[in-house]
Amino acid sequence: MITGLSHVSIVVPDLAAAAEKLEKIYGLVVDEAKVNDEQGVRLAYVNLPNARIELMEPARSDSPVARFLERNPKGGIHHFCLTVDSVDSTAEVLAERGARVLGEGKRQRNVHGERIAFVHPADFLGALVELEEHHG
Ligand code: CO
Repeated sequence: MITGLSHVSIVVPDLAAAAEKLEKIYGLVVDEAKVNDEQGVRLAYVNLPNARIELMEPARSDSPVARFLERNPKGGIHHFCLTVDSVDSTAEVLAERGARVLGEGKRQRNVHGERIAFVHPADFLGALVELEEHHG
C-alpha cells in the first residue's frame, strides 16, 4: 500500500556545486553525502518537513546514474519516491495489475538500510518511481 511521498531525486554532475547553489539561492541545507556502492552513486539530501530532495552524483563511470548524465549532461529529475508499508506486498499487487517492478527477486536497500524497488516508467505515466519501505 502506498502511504506517502518520500523524495524527489535529481541527478547532478557536481554534488558539491549543487549543494552550494541550493544553499546560496534557496537557503536549503544539504546534509552530508553518502555513497551507495550497490547503485554506484553519491547521495545527499535536503530534509523538508514533509518530504526530501535527493541529489545524486555518479560514484563510478559505469553506474546507471552516469549513463543518465551522458544523456542529460546538466542533470535533471531522475525519479520520485513513494513510501509503502511493504515493498514485497506492494510489488506483488502491482505486478498482478500489470505494472513492471524492476529488479524483481533482488532485494535492494537504500543508504538508510530501507527496502526499495523501482517501477518501470512506462507503467507510471512516464516517470520512474521508487518504492521505499517505511514502518509505522
Ligand atoms: Co531515490
